[in-house]
Amino acid sequence: MDRQTDRDVSDVSNLLYRHPELYEVVYDGAGHAVAKLAETILHDQLGRRAESLLDIGCGTGRDLEYLATHIPDVVGVDHQQAMIDYARTRRPEINFQTGDMRTLRLERAFEAITCFGYALANIHANRDIDKAIATFAAHSQPGTVLILEMIDPQRTDKLPRSFTIDIPDLRAEAIAEYRHHYAQQLLERRRTWRRAQGLVHDHVNFRLIYPKELEHYLDNHGFEVLGAYELSEKLNAASAFVAARYRGEQS
Ligand SMILES: C[S@@+](CC[C@H](N)C(=O)[O-])C[C@H]1O[C@@H](n2cnc3c(N)ncnc32)[C@H](O)[C@@H]1O
Repeated sequence: MDRQTDRDVSDVSNLLYRHPELYEVVYDGAGHAVAKLAETILHDQLGRRAESLLDIGCGTGRDLEYLATHIPDVVGVDHQQAMIDYARTRRPEINFQTGDMRTLRLERAFEAITCFGYALANIHANRDIDKAIATFAAHSQPGTVLILEMIDPQRTDKLPRSFTIDIPDLRAEAIAEYRHHYAQQLLERRRTWRRAQGLVHDHVNFRLIYPKELEHYLDNHGFEVLGAYELSEKLNAASAFVAARYRGEQS
């Protein structure tokens, strides 16, 4: 059973979540590197382009905008209303919904499901990770390809330490400090933004999930791990993109 000390998803304070327009300045997507990798993985695994895709924890919908140029039927879901409001305004042609990956049920299946930007790492308790994977299964059909951007627990030293915002209205720089909490398998990030108006502090805990652990969660819900991919881009250097295929429900 999970301990009371498991920290909840609400334990996040993030300047960029309060200002989604700044999120895209800091995480500019490096020429859609993640979306392009996903496109390649999906093409390799399906042997053709995907016809439908659900992006869970889609944030501002930046990756979905690129993927929607090749995939006709895309839906983005995020549990933060501010992100969804921004995504809808910025990308009105895309279907964005507010929802929690632990409970979401759209009552339909997709050929591809993605979860990028360590969205799953915001889920801390084992029972909640189980619920999130059950959600992925609930939106899958046999053959659905799932791609998860995970923090590689062996490469946390590659997580970004410095961040910059440099736009006409705002110049800010941040330094991030990371601290491991061994028993909870959490990586705490404290980030301090320096702006002319003063300091702003961010705080988030990322749940680290080891590969065999993830395989176990996925297998329990009918997914077979296909492999892990990497990107060299600075902001993704600690990422493992784990691809899995849905076999169908367990008997
Ligand atoms: C770092 S952002 C990544 C956004 C986007 N996928 C990207 O790569 O740019 C993580 C996102 O996960 C979302 N998130 C966190 N917990 C969630 C949950 N339980 N259900 C759905 N989305 C969640 C956050 O609101 C946030 O937008």
